[in-house]
Amino acid sequence: MTNVIISNIGEYEGQEVTLRGWVYNKRSSGKIQFILIRDGTGIIQGVVFKGDVTPETFALADSLTQESSIVATGKVREDKRAPGGYELSIGDLQLVHRALDYPIAPKEHGVDFLMSHRHLWLRSSQQHAILRVRAEIINACRDYLDERGFTLIDAPILTPAACEGTTTLFETDYFGDKAYLSQSGQLYMEAAAMAFGRVYCFGPTFRAEKSKTRRHLMEFWMIEPEMAFADLDEDMRVQEEFVSYVVQRVLSKRQQELEMLQRDTTRLKKVEPPFPRISYDEAIAILRKNGVEIEWGGDFGAPDETILAEQFEKPVFVHRYPTQSKAFYMKPDPERPEVALCADLLAPEGYGEIIGGGQRMDDLEMLEKKIVEHNLPKEAYEWYLDLRRYGSVPHAGFGMGIERTVAWICGLDHVRETIPFARMLYRIYP
Ligand code: 4AD
Ligand code: MG
Repeated sequence: MTNVIISNIGEYEGQEVTLRGWVYNKRSSGKIQFILIRDGTGIIQGVVFKGDVTPETFALADSLTQESSIVATGKVREDKRAPGGYELSIGDLQLVHRALDYPIAPKEHGVDFLMSHRHLWLRSSQQHAILRVRAEIINACRDYLDERGFTLIDAPILTPAACEGTTTLFETDYFGDKAYLSQSGQLYMEAAAMAFGRVYCFGPTFRAEKSKTRRHLMEFWMIEPEMAFADLDEDMRVQEEFVSYVVQRVLSKRQQELEMLQRDTTRLKKVEPPFPRISYDEAIAILRKNGVEIEWGGDFGAPDETILAEQFEKPVFVHRYPTQSKAFYMKPDPERPEVALCADLLAPEGYGEIIGGGQRMDDLEMLEKKIVEHNLPKEAYEWYLDLRRYGSVPHAGFGMGIERTVAWICGLDHVRETIPFARMLYRIYP
């Protein structure tokens, strides 16, 4: 018998096939058992008629528990009312494993309970849809960059120095020395850009952020392109094309998943270049006009970002933040050194910052001064300074957080469901 998968079942209409999967749900009405079968690619209704099968098979169907694993053989029948458009008339049924009393019943559970059962919660339709969108986003990011001459260069996870400030480092012992889990692959991408021109890395990054918000994870995934001979303007141009490509790709290939998540896609459809650009100064003015008391000089909080994003239909760039509030590697604007040549991209609908990036400091002496100002140990950055000793060029890049991007595209109000196993302030299990 042909083993088939549910997503392809339509190709076998009228034929006998075998499906291998799990019991998603079940109901019966005397002489008929309806078994919802899921196999990871989809869900289909299997129908067992008492008159069509042996008494043993019917008894087995009757005794199946939720999440029991089974092998079902039967004829594929078109049924317009069925969710995927097809049904399986089951003729034979094998039990692979009878599931014990499954803890996630089809009823409301609290988020805490579900997060503690994340290893099982992944099997639910909503979670399944979110993680498929996540996979599509990652694929789209890679395709966009691969097709435009960027080379994938993997950055290390264990590092000798900080990239994004020393207050959020996860420290570990490295044979008697200190090492830190990477906060960002950027510094290594700068080295790679001087070797390959246009590069990117994609991997997990770590921040010991003592903040319990709906946007922060301790471990998150970031895609970080870096470009030699590029300035802030070029950086923003690549970002708006990149983000638009990713959004349009998900809209065209993951429509079913977005429907399952009941995502209103009206706003997403409008995500096309160019994106509006405002300076930090303009952003401050907008916030003050909206009644926010804010001093020039600091970073924006989540509520500020929401107000700013609400002024625009599309994602919006906020560029030229005060140099004092930003990382050591940012290049000050030569015309106005108190602001840096950087930009954050804020997503619409209150999803906040999804990208941080900008032009890097390419001058050796200025960078050395910055490292001292930020109290960073210079020895650990000698290799990074070398990039300014041997053929330094203007260069720029950015980092897009995958989880915040998934939250935005899926319309989720918390990042915890956007990653298979979330690492949060008070949770590392499972
Ligand atoms: O703005 P960030 O800190 O920028 C950097 O790390 C740069 N080195 C990137 C670069 O230029 N190559 O982080 C970039 C993005 C944020 O916009 C956000 O989407 C995500 O990473 N991010 C987080 N996502 C989840 N949890 C956290 N704790 C995050 N911190 C940053
Ligand atoms: Mg940032």
